[in-house]
Amino acid sequence: MGEKLLKIAVIYFLIAVLLGMFMSMTHNFNFTPAHAHIALLGWASLGIAGLIYILYPKAEASKLGKAHFWFHNIGLPIMMIGLLLLEGGMVTAEPIIGIGANITTIGIILFVINVFRNVSAAGRK
Ligand code: HEM
Repeated sequence: MGEKLLKIAVIYFLIAVLLGMFMSMTHNFNFTPAHAHIALLGWASLGIAGLIYILYPKAEASKLGKAHFWFHNIGLPIMMIGLLLLEGGMVTAEPIIGIGANITTIGIILFVINVFRNVSAAGRK
């Protein structure tokens, strides 16, 4: 699961950088919040979580880890699609962002509990 997260994270990295390049070239900065969240919740947060799971197999193997994986990876794309639609001018997309954000937040709460329970010297590789 750790390695899978690293591969998902680099895809978010690529999307974030391409969106950043698009904004720079077109001088259209409407998509800045989506760019920042794709970079930070996708690339940075998922990448760091992946490294933590690789370093702490007990956290990786726990039900909390698996639940975090799915909540984060289902919630974030929903939230980002909603945000991109909103920034593109579709004001009715706001509930989509809310649904995705709630799912992602639940995943992150589970991740925090998992780190407190299962990240310890005893559970380290
Ligand atoms: C080639 C790579 C990148 C390009 C071309 C790029 C481009 C941009 C542009 C054009 C903006 C909008 C600036 C503005 O509205 O004044 C921006 C904002 C931002 N970028 Fe990037 N970016 C890149 C990589 C990254 C990465 C890797 C991260 C984080 C891991 C990141 C995080 C942010 C954040 C947080 C903002 C919002 C800053 C603010 O509104 O004050 N960017 N970026």
